Amino acid sequence: MLTGKVIVVGVTGGIAAYKAVELVSRLRKQQAEVQVIMSRGATNFVTPLTFREISGNPVVVDMWDEPKSWNVEHIALALRADGFVIAPATANLIGKLANGLADDSLSTTLMATTAPVLLAPAMNSNMYQNPIVQQNIAKLTALGYRFLQPDCGMLACGVEGPGRLPEPERIVDAVIELLCPQLPLAGKKILVTAGGTREAIDPVRYIGNRSSGKMGYALAAAAASFGAEVVLVSGPVALDDPAGVRVIRVESAQEMMAAVLEEFPGSDITIKAAAVADYRPQTAAQHKIKKQAEQLTLVLEKNPDILAELGQRKQAGQLLIGFAAETQELLTHARGKLERKRLDMIVANDVSLPGAGFNSDTNIVKLLYANGHQEDLPQMDKQSLAIELLKRIIKLAEK
Ligand code: CTP
Repeated sequence: MLTGKVIVVGVTGGIAAYKAVELVSRLRKQQAEVQVIMSRGATNFVTPLTFREISGNPVVVDMWDEPKSWNVEHIALALRADGFVIAPATANLIGKLANGLADDSLSTTLMATTAPVLLAPAMNSNMYQNPIVQQNIAKLTALGYRFLQPDCGMLACGVEGPGRLPEPERIVDAVIELLCPQLPLAGKKILVTAGGTREAIDPVRYIGNRSSGKMGYALAAAAASFGAEVVLVSGPVALDDPAGVRVIRVESAQEMMAAVLEEFPGSDITIKAAAVADYRPQTAAQHKIKKQAEQLTLVLEKNPDILAELGQRKQAGQLLIGFAAETQELLTHARGKLERKRLDMIVANDVSLPGAGFNSDTNIVKLLYANGHQEDLPQMDKQSLAIELLKRIIKLAEK
């Protein structure tokens, strides 16, 4: 499937660098032209000679080396490449890319390319789970870079956890998906909501919640990569707009309702991942409320249930997916919401579990379908979960 494609394999300095040798060999068996760029650190694990023999091409390491031929000079590679795969990708390379640093051949070439880039991180579990690394991954994902989730297991450093480079076969599959993308959602319009809402108390205060928006943003990005036209109605979040997605920013539940109702009629699939405030202050004070009495009572009134309203308006052929965040009796509450709001599927998560729900980078969910079927998914990062959810939604859409 990769016949004639120019694939640049970037190898950085991790113990898993040896697996990149098999990766290069497998890519060549798929008839790809493979060019290898190594970081200086990677050469401590595998010699450039090995990659030269396996790839059949000169290997680029040092930016200041005299190029072997002008055509393989690193900027030329940035232009010629159909795609990049970085395996293993160290925390250092990910950090440099996320911050626009270009201080060696690999990072310079990556900065200069417009080709799709797949990164396969491999490192110690604590490093991988470090919020700095996770933030860098989230930032790059929002910018359109693809990541392959590392495997869990015993790492070279003796620690058990996520951080192992996936087997080369899986990386090749991901490269094929990157370069020969399936666009199962081409021609479909998908409406996604994300983040929490803010309900004004006065000009400086609001009632909010802990939603980060990460799940909804990951879903919007994944739907766009599957070829859909995506509209994302987002509450205030600290995330960059996903590439190729139209973003409508709102604050309150009422603003979200107005935007969603406007976009809903032409949407084939609507996914409501937002954490909408159920209540809002009855009146938002015009001026800042001053500190006076010992107690202050806020009277709250009910917000509209956007999803329930969509359930009422849903036409044949429109799919409606909701989320249920619960801290107890997960399945009973989620099934109740699925039925009450006339949904096709609900993504239920117990937000009291570690590694699930609000503000976490991972999620653990159970899927409940309108036909009574239930499916439990393992803990996974929100990008991977978004893809798994969309695969199931695509199946529902085909029925
Ligand atoms: N939802 C909505 N509008 C609201 C409240 C919720 O559209 N005013 C949507 C959410 O986006 C989510 C689903 O309904 O997809 C379930 O939200 P959740 O907060 O779990 O449930 P509620 O219906 O608010 O019920 P409760 O607060 O009793 O758990």
